[in-house]
Amino acid sequence: MSQYPELSGKVAIVTGAGRPGGLGAAIAQRLAQEGAKVVVADLDTVQEMHAVVQEIIDHGGQAMALPCNMLDGSAVEKLVADTQAAYGGVDILINNAGVGYLMKPIVEMSLDEWDTVLGVNLRGMFAATQAAAKRFIAQGRGGRIVNIASQAAKSGFTHASAYCASKHGVLGLTRVAAIELAQHQVTVNAVCPNHVTTGLGAWQNEYFSKLLGKSVEQYLAEMRARIPLGRAGLTSDTANACAFLCSDQAQYITGEAMNVSGGEEMH
Ligand SMILES: NC(=O)c1ccc[n+]([C@@H]2O[C@H](COP(=O)([O-])OP(=O)(O)OC[C@H]3O[C@@H](n4cnc5c(N)ncnc54)[C@H](O)[C@@H]3O)[C@@H](O)[C@H]2O)c1
Repeated sequence: MSQYPELSGKVAIVTGAGRPGGLGAAIAQRLAQEGAKVVVADLDTVQEMHAVVQEIIDHGGQAMALPCNMLDGSAVEKLVADTQAAYGGVDILINNAGVGYLMKPIVEMSLDEWDTVLGVNLRGMFAATQAAAKRFIAQGRGGRIVNIASQAAKSGFTHASAYCASKHGVLGLTRVAAIELAQHQVTVNAVCPNHVTTGLGAWQNEYFSKLLGKSVEQYLAEMRARIPLGRAGLTSDTANACAFLCSDQAQYITGEAMNVSGGEEMH
């Protein structure tokens, strides 16, 4: 059921949306449910992106898959150009692609690993923001950018120096883009989810429970106990926040870093 009819016919690109069960796939499905035409972008090795597209189509939505490596600036420009060619414009960019599985103590992390995390999570996001912003300005009909940051954009977590640095950087990029693009009626916001058990989330559960010498079940129970609303995040929580930020209801909200964390993160 559509909640924001104004999103019907809008064209949305969701990066890193090719994994069923991931945040990007849920956001793509939610926007398609609102009637948006959705580009599911991911690495060309992520063949499941075709299944994500098929599921949207099976539910009556419009979607297509486009391969794009966020580390390649010209591929990111091509993603926006191909979307324009296929769907006649671009209205929404959801910067979701991210690397969260390179977790190590600072003293063990290589510079190449640092570069990979910062390269996808921040440089890739900048490239997509730039390409979409040029398109939005040329079209002259406004636009929406939502950056998937993290609780790690606001707090530090052990073994996550590159991840936290990249996500803190996402908030800086969000704020500058919000200021620069406001004159073009483009809003730019970030969403900061706490833990969600996606593929990446499941990997992190294994990693941190082992690090702390606990079972995954014990680790998750302790997580639930410290979250005021008593559960970990769901992909739908983040997808709902994105749909709202893309809607007319959020037209006066920009430069915001919205927590979607059941009260775990409050600043
Ligand atoms: N799961 C969580 O607990 C959680 C919490 C907060 C924020 N996030 C953020 O949400 C986003 C989605 O994460 P997820 O949990 O769904 O994990 P995920 O691993 O399922 O999704 C990340 C996606 O990014 C893609 N990607 C990685 N490198 C890429 C590249 N070079 N080019 C293009 N795509 C690339 C992956 O293929 C994958 O589809 C990430 O930015 C992550 O940091 C996740």
